[in-house]
Amino acid sequence: MPKVHQINHPLLAHSLTILRNRNSDTECFRRHTAIVSQIMIMEATREISIDERLIQTPLTEHRGAEIHRSLIFVPVLRAGISMLFPARDFLPWASVGFIGLERDDNTAIAREYYQKFPGDLDKKRVLVLDPMLATGGSLADTITALIDKGARSITAICIVAAPEGLSYLQDKYPQVDIFVAAIDSHLNDQKYIVPGLGDFGDRYFGT
Ligand code: PRP
Ligand code: URA
Repeated sequence: MPKVHQINHPLLAHSLTILRNRNSDTECFRRHTAIVSQIMIMEATREISIDERLIQTPLTEHRGAEIHRSLIFVPVLRAGISMLFPARDFLPWASVGFIGLERDDNTAIAREYYQKFPGDLDKKRVLVLDPMLATGGSLADTITALIDKGARSITAICIVAAPEGLSYLQDKYPQVDIFVAAIDSHLNDQKYIVPGLGDFGDRYFGT
C-alpha cells in the first residue's frame, strides 16, 4: 500500500495500548490521544516546506528555518477535534476547516451535518484529522468535499485503520497520503475496527 504510511515509535505503541485498554478512563484517554496525535503530526509534516530565516543569535548571525505557513487542518467532527488541539499546539497559525459526519448506527454510512472550509484550500496543504478509519466512508466523503471545494494536496492522519477502509480509500483516492499508527485485523459485523479501541468519540468525550 504505497500511499499508506504506518508510523512506528515506542512512545506511540505505548500510548496506543493505553487507548485500546477498555479500563482507561476519560482523562487518561485524552492525555494519550494528545501524545499519539503529536507524534503522528510530527511524522506527517516531515516533508513540510520551510523558508530560510536569517536571525541573530546572542553570538552571531545564523541562517535558520521557518515553516512556510501553508497548512490547513480539517478535523472530522466530532472525534477529529481530539487531534486538533495537539496539532494547534505545534502549528498555532494554521487555519482550520470543519466537516461534521456521523455514521448511522445500523448502516455505518456517514451523514454530513456540517461543513465550513477556508477559502484558500487550493493554495495550501490540507491535513485531515480523524482518529478512526473503519469502512473509509467518512474519510472518502471528507476528501470528496475538499476536492469539490478546490483542495489539491490532501493528507489524512488516522490513529487506527482497518484494512478494508484503507483498500477502499486507495482505490478511490490513490493520490492521498494516509498516515496511521496501526492497521488492525478487520471490521466486525457492526463495522467496528477489531481489535480497535471501541467508539473513539464516546470514549474521548465521555458520552
Ligand atoms: C467515527 C470516526 C470516523 C468514522 C470512521 O465517527 O471518528 O469519522 O467513525 O468510520 P468509517 O470509516 O466507517 O466512516 P462517528 O461517525 O462515530 O462520529 P463521531 O466522531 O461523532 O463519534
Ligand atoms: N468509529 C469508531 O469510533 N470506532 C470504530 O471502530 C469504527 C468507527
